[in-house]
Amino acid sequence: MNSFSFNHLSYIFACHFGYGLLSSSSLSLIIVFLFILIRFPMISTVASMEVMVSNASSSFDPEDGSNYDSANDMKAFDETKGGVKGLADSGVIKIPRFFVHPPEKPQQPSSKSSNINLQVPIINFEGFESSRRMEVVNEIRRASENWGLFQVVNHGIPENVMDGMLEGVKRFHEQPQEVKTEFYTRDADQRVKFFTGALLLTKEPAIWRDTVAFDFKDGKLDPQLFPAIMREEVGEYFRHVTKIGKALSELLSEALGLRSNYLSSIECMETQSLVGHYYPACPQPELTFGTTTHSDPSFLTILLQDNKGGLQVLHQNQWVDVPPLQGALLVNIGDLMQLITNDRFRSVEHRVLAGEVGPRISLASFFFPSTANTFKPYGVIQELLSDDTPIYRATHLAEFMGQYMSTGSYISTLSHFKVSSGQACSSTEDTD
Ligand code: OGA
Ligand code: NI
Repeated sequence: MNSFSFNHLSYIFACHFGYGLLSSSSLSLIIVFLFILIRFPMISTVASMEVMVSNASSSFDPEDGSNYDSANDMKAFDETKGGVKGLADSGVIKIPRFFVHPPEKPQQPSSKSSNINLQVPIINFEGFESSRRMEVVNEIRRASENWGLFQVVNHGIPENVMDGMLEGVKRFHEQPQEVKTEFYTRDADQRVKFFTGALLLTKEPAIWRDTVAFDFKDGKLDPQLFPAIMREEVGEYFRHVTKIGKALSELLSEALGLRSNYLSSIECMETQSLVGHYYPACPQPELTFGTTTHSDPSFLTILLQDNKGGLQVLHQNQWVDVPPLQGALLVNIGDLMQLITNDRFRSVEHRVLAGEVGPRISLASFFFPSTANTFKPYGVIQELLSDDTPIYRATHLAEFMGQYMSTGSYISTLSHFKVSSGQACSSTEDTD
């Protein structure tokens, strides 16, 4: 099975090297991946964290229930460079077949509805640097252990900065097509870019979403590269979210019972990739997704969503809405954090439903190690082990991301690194 997954990084792979090269053997996969890392060391250009398994160039055809070869249609759509927004603006009332996802399988948590009895934890950060530190740390610990995500209020980012950023993303996507297509690219060297559906030219159904992405390689990115229409907002938001990222790294360290600079000392959250998603109104939202089910491979993700809703997380095998909360930020644990904490903190599967009403805007900041640490080993934190044996073996970002893409399974990415999985020494095996 020549399966491999697609996030933004593989989008780059596909563009530069074609699919066959990657899927030919596990050894060539890792060699290619290492080569690409050397050529394009910025792992954090992972701009879209969903993973899709792919082994046939097919989408589901709702009319006759069959599969069809979507590659040519997707390519033609990609070449319009207008994104999903361009398509929506053209007034389609039926979405193209390559956006149609197969109906959910019976063993999956049922339907797109949400369990309304479960509520994502909301943590008030007021006083987190003084009187309420212990309380906040305890709440973070509980939420990270049980949910893998939480909403944060009173975190200190002014609302006008957050609103300004969401507005900036909206303005970018809503400017005349000929202006934004200047940024339309799959070139990995481009640190600011616009692309659509995240998964175009792949073999999985597309998603109803456009994205503008900023790769803050180790914090340094010339503002002149930002689209003029959102330049100030991006710089301002990035400064603030970096500060919150540092605070969270300390709070999470303490929540793990470690010294507060532990996570910063291992440099696992030094780099940020910022992506601004635009989910246009969809004429047939029940047939597709805004973002398909995935967990983020990052160490940590900070998400800002507007007030439209549609984000859901999988909790106790049930989909739970993450309701928009004015002024809140959403924090979620990534796969790599789960690995180094030996499953103490859990990454969480999440998705975004397509909506009849739109657009929905969101902004995700993915935290990763810096470029210099692409090959730095990250394993279970010794201090967390006491007498337990580690669940996972150590890996590095290059290998982890290679595996993430090669298996095409967001669920098994972590399990692949399990000491007991029998695969511990062959991280690049195909999943045939
Ligand atoms: C992501 C993601 C959610 C959203 O980009 O990884 O999960 O609300 N986005 O857009
Ligand atoms: Ni995500």
